[in-house]
Amino acid sequence: MPPRDSDTPTADPTRVPSPFDLSGRVAIVTGAARGIGRQIALTLAGAGAHVIVADRNEDGGRAVAAELQDAGRSGRFAFVDVTDSASVDALVRNVLATEGTLDVSVHNAGVAVNTPAEETSDEEWLRVLDVNLNGVFRCCRAVAGPMLLRGQGAIVNIASMSGVISNTPQPQAHYNASKAGVITLTKSLAGEWAERGVRVNAVSPGYIGTEMTRAGMEHEAWRDRWLAMTPMGRVGEPHEIANAVWYLASDASSFATGTNLLVDGGYTSW
Ligand code: NAI
Repeated sequence: MPPRDSDTPTADPTRVPSPFDLSGRVAIVTGAARGIGRQIALTLAGAGAHVIVADRNEDGGRAVAAELQDAGRSGRFAFVDVTDSASVDALVRNVLATEGTLDVSVHNAGVAVNTPAEETSDEEWLRVLDVNLNGVFRCCRAVAGPMLLRGQGAIVNIASMSGVISNTPQPQAHYNASKAGVITLTKSLAGEWAERGVRVNAVSPGYIGTEMTRAGMEHEAWRDRWLAMTPMGRVGEPHEIANAVWYLASDASSFATGTNLLVDGGYTSW
């Protein structure tokens, strides 16, 4: 038997293939038309993945797909409305028919609304839960079929620090409850699917500078409270979340499942 590279005295033990390399992997990212999802799509594509930029916003999604193609990366837009099971199932069928495989699925689509709990209508409560929690479940269920069949896959759900604390001063009980649901859903699915090769993890951002938080950042009293309660004293940037997703989407996290990775500038440590 020829000596293995590791047996030879001259072998460099630091020369290993990067576990972060996503070359040849196919990844779906929902809610990728803007904000955090856009940056997750660009980061995964930059790491070598072929990325399906999935969103209900066609113009924004096509622009992000063009952006990554212009940068010499691989990917395309695909429509999805995560509140519609038929739309989610069709997305996954379309990816399997077109790309032939699915390795990574990042469930990031979400909405935030600020309404005092006692004034929240049934309709608004159900809408927030339907996008943020039911949408993540629909996506997990749809991608689980092909991933479990193949015995391989990495799912990353975008939850929030709002799933472990309740934000202040803005009222958003439905949003917080939906994100707590995403964290527990993630742990439940991780347990069900671990022995069959599919890892399910969550990333929970703190305040990140996107359209979702723009109005709050322009509201002086809210901004001052948010920054005072964040040990790092600033909001995060989308790439600081995308890098955490990259880790959980890649083989670098091969022993991680059911985890909730908080990336919040220290907010939940006070
Ligand atoms: P954003 O509002 O900038 O982008 C959300 C994206 O989701 C949009 O492209 C939108 O078209 C898409 N989307 C919404 N409903 C959809 C549906 N039914 N089907 C398909 N796509 C849909 O939000 P942002 O800030 O980029 O947030 C992304 C994720 O990160 C969300 O899940 C959010 O709850 C979470 N998050 C954000 C934080 C922040 O400070 N920005 C903090 C913690 C969590």
